Amino acid sequence: MSSSSRTRITWLGHATVLIQTPKGTNILIDPFIQNNPKYPKEFELPSRLEAILLTHGHGDHISDAASTAKKHGSKVVAIYELADYIAGKGVQETAGMNLGGTVTINDAAATMVDAKHSSGAQDEKGVHYVGVAAGFVISIEDGPVLYHAGDTCAFGDMKLIHEIYQPKVAMLPIGGFYTMDPKEAAFASRLLKPEVILPIHWGTFPPLTGTPQQVAALVEPSVKVVSWKPGDVFEA
Ligand code: NI
Ligand code: MN
Repeated sequence: MSSSSRTRITWLGHATVLIQTPKGTNILIDPFIQNNPKYPKEFELPSRLEAILLTHGHGDHISDAASTAKKHGSKVVAIYELADYIAGKGVQETAGMNLGGTVTINDAAATMVDAKHSSGAQDEKGVHYVGVAAGFVISIEDGPVLYHAGDTCAFGDMKLIHEIYQPKVAMLPIGGFYTMDPKEAAFASRLLKPEVILPIHWGTFPPLTGTPQQVAALVEPSVKVVSWKPGDVFEA
């Protein structure tokens, strides 16, 4: 793979995002592959994924976490109880952190931040308590600060995320129903003050009706809302 001085962000449908740093560190967020109707089927993940970050325990965020971690030699980074649950699925290397904590992955630092959402993990034995829902701020050495909100509504402490980390690129759920919709995403943008919004968690299932166009019509004109499709790459 050719090295790039930029950070590559590939949307793999729903909340699944691949981040590739200038130094070649590969980080996958919320792997939802097999049952993700919008996953770009021809897409091949890099053979080595240094880390897999999980925002919360719902199936549309973790259903392929353990299998992908085993196949790609990844450390799974998640809130303590969720990391423990994933370790129980046979993943060798996990980092069970909590809100406010930071894990370093080569030239990237992933900080777990707040989100407002439920979080339970369901398997054949029932529903398990796997901590609370979270988002991640990912600071790239010689690169941008990224924010993946996970599943959340808009909340006032997004202002704090701006004040502490100043993310340039915000990956925000916009579909509605399970998360914020375009109106709330536009309000979130006022608190986060990103340069770029990468819309996620939309278009996957019928209830997720929000679109990037609706967000673009509501945010300040200085904020770029990227209208992308699964498989597309944004370079930051
Ligand atoms: Ni969820
Ligand atoms: Mn979700």
